[in-house]
Amino acid sequence: MVQLSTSVCLLGGFLGLCLIEPILTSLTPSSMCTPLRTLNDSLSHRRRYMKHYFPVNYTIRVHQREVFRLSNISRMRSKVKGVEDLLLQRLWFQVNQGVLKKIIRVMPERHPSRPYTAELEQRFRDAEGVFVQSHPAEVFQQELPETIQDIWDYLTEEPDRVPESSWRLAPPKSLLDNLYQTMFCLFSGCFAGEEAQQNYCGVSHWKKGRKKDLRPES
Ligand SMILES: *[C@@H]1O[C@H](CO)[C@@H](O)[C@H](O)[C@H]1NC(C)=O
Ligand SMILES: *[C@@H]1O[C@H](CO)[C@@H](O)[C@H](O)[C@H]1NC(C)=O
Ligand SMILES: *[C@@H]1O[C@H](CO)[C@@H](O)[C@H](O)[C@H]1NC(C)=O
Repeated sequence: MVQLSTSVCLLGGFLGLCLIEPILTSLTPSSMCTPLRTLNDSLSHRRRYMKHYFPVNYTIRVHQREVFRLSNISRMRSKVKGVEDLLLQRLWFQVNQGVLKKIIRVMPERHPSRPYTAELEQRFRDAEGVFVQSHPAEVFQQELPETIQDIWDYLTEEPDRVPESSWRLAPPKSLLDNLYQTMFCLFSGCFAGEEAQQNYCGVSHWKKGRKKDLRPES
């Protein structure tokens, strides 16, 4: 199987097909930046809607693979052969689509955070639409590295077939923190601040801001 796809790739290479991929995967298409910045705007209100409007220590049940943090990204980048940003971006969309659905599902119709979360999900889907459009369709048909394929299979498994041991309890705010931080890491091209080369993928970058985050709110 692997040999087959390699030779297809070599043949494609002659036609320039294989060249498309490394070029595209190394950058975030600029068309992604508008929807992602919109998403960032929504996410800046996550503390209020995901914490204050929920009972203290409230958690929801998610698949363990839906806990997708910066540490997962650095681990995959160093351990999984052939993992490119584009793959991680696809995984990011897949994971967080499930996360947002699960958060919405626990909220009654008249929960004060419901309109916020519905809008967030809509903005997320808009970003995903642009993401899909801005890459050639072949990119999404590529065979995934085995480790990533395994994660993908877990994520798309029917919930009632997921073993009890694979569920985790997580506060909704922390799930959105993960979504937020990994977004800056994986799409850093859209979020360059005054310091041109901010390392959004580093855990230390986010720890810096923690003090402010812990300040009691009025
Ligand atoms: C993200 O959104 C917040 C709130 O609107 C804004 O203050 C911040 O500058 C945005 N960050 C980036 C990198 O665009
Ligand atoms: C919330 O969790 C913290 C830390 O586990 C605990 O100290 C606190 O008592 C909990 N609060 C409530 C209301 O359960
Ligand atoms: C991220 O790492 C944690 C363990 O630290 C693991 O439970 C989780 O499944 C990983 N997420 C993904 C998407 O692989």
